[in-house]
Amino acid sequence: MTTAGNAFLLRPWVKPLLFVLCLLPLAWLVVGALTDRLGANPAEALIRSTGDWTLRFLCITLAVTPARVVCGLPALARLRRMLGVFTWFYAAWHLAAYAWLDMGFDLTEIVRDIIKRPFILVGFAAFLLLTPLAATSFNAAIRALGAVRWRRLHRLVYGIAFLALVHFLWMRSAKNDLAEVAIYAAIVSGLLGWRLARWWRERRAALSQRAQPPATCFNR
Ligand code: HEM
Repeated sequence: MTTAGNAFLLRPWVKPLLFVLCLLPLAWLVVGALTDRLGANPAEALIRSTGDWTLRFLCITLAVTPARVVCGLPALARLRRMLGVFTWFYAAWHLAAYAWLDMGFDLTEIVRDIIKRPFILVGFAAFLLLTPLAATSFNAAIRALGAVRWRRLHRLVYGIAFLALVHFLWMRSAKNDLAEVAIYAAIVSGLLGWRLARWWRERRAALSQRAQPPATCFNR
């Protein structure tokens, strides 16, 4: 099963297929906007939907490692980078939709609004942190940074997930509508909790190995 799953994921058309699938939400929104099917307030629908998709892609990207380990599918790792870049892609559309439809691309107003409304400031901070991760998702950048520094930089994703949740919570708490926020918070906590548990297990295993007496010719 896992061998078949890995063989499937390694097929050359899987990456292009995923690429097209990741573009579908944007295509759906563009078609909806052009055919006037985004409801009574299309600007709000565009800003909110791109925000929702940013959060969904963030969750999917965070789910790759647990899914890879739990399902025994190492080939899933080759799809993670694309999913991460699409998280940034939808965040950029979300920011652009806000800057255009809410603020009319007035830079002074945008800066004033970001400073004035804390939930927007938190979203903007998440976007700023996401940008270096997307910019270093390419082989040349990974080589230039070195694996250790690259991995350290990409730990920012935990902070980004936290800020994204705070941004969402802050926005929805003003509307007294927290059901969806609770679902995303549970998903993100589950995914980050899994990583924390794995890190703890590995640390304990490393410590107990170090505590063992050195191998001799008798117990090797
Ligand atoms: C990683 C970055 C970000 C994520 C994950 C994110 C996510 C979200 C989500 C999930 C929503 C709520 C959608 C809904 O109600 O269904 C939202 C709303 C919103 N976000 Fe973001 N966001 C991010 C960055 C930003 C940035 C950079 C800005 C602007 C500077 C921004 C401005 C807004 C605005 C104006 C709303 C709509 C508020 C309303 O309709 O009252 N967000 N965002």
